[in-house]
Amino acid sequence: MAEIRKMTKEDIKQVATIHRAIMRTTARILGEFDLELEFMDLRSTYPEGCLVAVEKGQVVGFLMSSQKSWGFGLVTSGWIELVGVHPDKMGRGIGHALGKAILAHFDEKNIDDVYTAVKWDYSDLITFFKSVGFGRSEFINLKHAREE
Ligand SMILES: CC(C)(COP(=O)(O)OP(=O)(O)OC[C@H]1O[C@@H](n2cnc3c(N)ncnc32)[C@H](O)[C@@H]1OP(=O)(O)O)[C@@H](O)C(=O)NCCC(=O)NCCS
Repeated sequence: MAEIRKMTKEDIKQVATIHRAIMRTTARILGEFDLELEFMDLRSTYPEGCLVAVEKGQVVGFLMSSQKSWGFGLVTSGWIELVGVHPDKMGRGIGHALGKAILAHFDEKNIDDVYTAVKWDYSDLITFFKSVGFGRSEFINLKHAREE
């Protein structure tokens, strides 16, 4: 079984490799996009909530979260920003272990509510989050799209 531990800066390269393997967008990304740098920045905002799953010294999955103490009419809450498991390692309980570990982390901090957002047609992610205990939130998402 994979070991779950905090993500280090040295893990970021492997985390980005997993993310590239599972990214589903072919949408245009504006400008130079340095995934490693973006992930480095994201991790630095809340290192204690960024986890990796490791097997035989290799990162096989990751989860990045943040804590928000402002806005959205909420008390302090946890937010799962990203989760991913290497395609060769999916379906073996690694995502579940990462999900439960981050919920235990927020529980230890007495943070009652943990949020995430999932595209409505990503049914695997929705089923995954339901399997670790997530349900519908009180939010609706709003979007402004520039007219082409
Ligand atoms: C979703 C994901 C994190 C799940 O991790 P995993 O290690 O494969 O999942 P687990 O083996 O721990 O399974 C946990 C539960 O998730 C659900 N699940 C996992 N993969 C699923 C799939 N392909 N379809 C439907 N449900 C799925 C199941 O309910 C499963 O519980 P069960 O085994 O009791 O049926 C992983 O498959 C993944 O990284 N997918 C791509 C995610 C992605 O697109 N990330 C980028 C945007 S954030």
